Amino acid sequence: MTTNATAIALKRTGQLMPRVGFGLWKVDRPTCATTVYNALKAGYRLLDGAGDYGNEKEAGEGLRRAIADGIVKREEVFVTSKLWNTYHERHQVKTIAKKQLELWGIEYFDLYLIHFPISLEYVKPEDKYPPEWWGLDGKIHTINVPLRETWEVMEELVDDGLAKNIGLSNTQGSLLIDVTRYARIQPQVLQVEIHPYLTQEALVKQAELLGIVVTAYSSFGPQSYVELGGDKGAAGLLSLDLVTGIASRVNKTPAQVLLRWAVQRGLAVIPKSNNHDRLVSNLQVTSFELPAEDVKAISSLNIGLRLNDPFDLDPNQGTLAIFA
Ligand SMILES: NC(=O)c1ccc[n+]([C@@H]2O[C@H](COP(=O)([O-])OP(=O)(O)OC[C@H]3O[C@@H](n4cnc5c(N)ncnc54)[C@H](OP(=O)(O)O)[C@@H]3O)[C@@H](O)[C@H]2O)c1
Repeated sequence: MTTNATAIALKRTGQLMPRVGFGLWKVDRPTCATTVYNALKAGYRLLDGAGDYGNEKEAGEGLRRAIADGIVKREEVFVTSKLWNTYHERHQVKTIAKKQLELWGIEYFDLYLIHFPISLEYVKPEDKYPPEWWGLDGKIHTINVPLRETWEVMEELVDDGLAKNIGLSNTQGSLLIDVTRYARIQPQVLQVEIHPYLTQEALVKQAELLGIVVTAYSSFGPQSYVELGGDKGAAGLLSLDLVTGIASRVNKTPAQVLLRWAVQRGLAVIPKSNNHDRLVSNLQVTSFELPAEDVKAISSLNIGLRLNDPFDLDPNQGTLAIFA
């Protein structure tokens, strides 16, 4: 398959996953339904949501409106969602997955991922939804739930037709290998942070070996974290001379160059934008090629900078040092 193919076949089911999807993290709730509707109208066929994003109801509204208007059929849209850390216990997984489906107003997810491989104490949805990282007392509470317990119920979601494919997110090599040793239904997709400051070649190779498709998130690196005060002082990739220079030479935007760099590495991407023009241009990255030396030059920006690291939420205790 060439990297210009607009979809990637998942190994177990053969289902085609669009190579470019629309990311829903920080898509503003008041405009989310319209943004999703317009994204589908513009040609997006993958929506990357999560319970944690707090906009599943609105995203579902946009999707259902697009279906009602004949823009798409349900089966033409690949809907991804994620299981949050507070629902990893055996008896919680299915209940929350069903609640999420209800919020979306759909019968099944095309892909359901374990958002982070760390289990936190249950927070009742009626008390706080989404619960984020902290208990109601404002503290982080990890619990003793091994990933295997959670994975076994993820498999039941497939058995029950609630998820067509299941996978992992924010999971590194050793844990990924471990899951594949006991999985009855193998993970199909791994979604991780990948951008030129964090290229993760070894992990991508490992996933490939295991037959797992990798989706890169936060393709624009620090850009997504500026509004959260979490860019860690890194220079913006979109305005970096190397990137803007390549962009003007190939007559594309810097954002398209960064997305194309990932696509050309065989990865799927899920850019997010609250701006319609940017959203449209982000989709157009499967119809041009970057010279191999440009891909290499962009990769050489790697400094191992991880922007989305839960360790940062509790650095003194190291409670969430999942990437250590
Ligand atoms: N599994 C996980 O733990 C995890 C973690 C993070 C993200 N994700 C997923 O990955 C998706 C993408 O990651 P992300 O949201 O972190 O970041 P991203 O898509 O890399 O970047 C989004 C940022 O870039 C800006 N932007 C978008 N298109 C642009 C363009 N063409 N030119 C200039 N600026 C542009 C956006 O601003 P505007 O909105 O103003 O355009 C926003 O500030 C998320 O939405 C989510 O679905 C998953």
